[in-house]
Amino acid sequence: MSLSPILRAIADGEFHSGEELARLLGVSRTAVWKQLQKIQAQTGLSIESVKGRGYRLAEPLELLDREAVVAALAEPIRSLLTGFEIHEEIDSTNRAALQRAQDGSGRGHIIVAERQTAGRGRRGRQWVSPFGRNIYFSALWEFDGGAAALEGLSLAVGVAVASALKDVGVAGIGLKWPNDVVWDGRKLAGILLEMVGDAAGRCQVVIGIGINVAMAGSEQTAAIDQPWVDVATAAGRRVSRNQLLAALLTYLLPLLQRFEREGFASTHAEWSALDSFFGRDVSVHLGETLVLGQAAGVTSTGALLVDTPQGRQQFHGGEVSLRLAL
Ligand code: BTN
Repeated sequence: MSLSPILRAIADGEFHSGEELARLLGVSRTAVWKQLQKIQAQTGLSIESVKGRGYRLAEPLELLDREAVVAALAEPIRSLLTGFEIHEEIDSTNRAALQRAQDGSGRGHIIVAERQTAGRGRRGRQWVSPFGRNIYFSALWEFDGGAAALEGLSLAVGVAVASALKDVGVAGIGLKWPNDVVWDGRKLAGILLEMVGDAAGRCQVVIGIGINVAMAGSEQTAAIDQPWVDVATAAGRRVSRNQLLAALLTYLLPLLQRFEREGFASTHAEWSALDSFFGRDVSVHLGETLVLGQAAGVTSTGALLVDTPQGRQQFHGGEVSLRLAL
């Protein structure tokens, strides 16, 4: 049985009696109790049970709602959406989107989940993905021109994520090359692009985006190995995940369409305005090699520029990692 009906019934954070829930779902009170136990175990949500009053979630929960998201989209954006899956649980939305690409789905197919059991981060890291708190999002798109035509795509996607966050009330967003979205020096969202198809011709790209929305209280945050922040903290209030998802689609889908025609060049100025490392002393790590210098922005194809004692150097994505110099 899907968790949704019972979770939806108690999502408001109010008390609901076992009798009411049993009637609503057409099951016995024992079945309700068992379901609630299962939900607690699977989601990590805390459900209180008080004699004479019933059950309630310790905190209200806004579940992802396909109809609400689609209703919030303007018609031109809706027309770019060719498929929209919402999962209660999935291993990785990126993995699933890559599979859809192989099964024949095309541009504009979106997969979102309440929780990932094997969320993927960059450089083989895991992406911590607790239930109901964040956004785990993958979009499938197609590009001609192979891997070379994708240079700068992850930077452009960062601009779309930053715009969506600004739209829902987060001020002070920054971007960190190549594809982190930061606030107050801490990571708010991450982007992971994965590709299938012809590296020299037509390829399908999965644009994976993870946004920390309301992480406080999740035990899983202990597993995050870098400074992080969530939207609730950055905005100073609770933000609707459905609203944020609609904003993300609103900025991302047209951006992907534009990127196909113009590449990174048309987003270059917007990216530069959000460049959180510009002019700062940085270290660039390429495997065992370390380059020290001052961050000098990015090129119109998205390569990182660093002024070093030996002159200006350019770095391309891949296995390069950028840090502030200590
Ligand atoms: C990073 O390490 O900064 C990139 C994180 C990307 C995480 C997102 S969550 C949705 C999508 N599915 C995944 O498995 N990973 C990406």
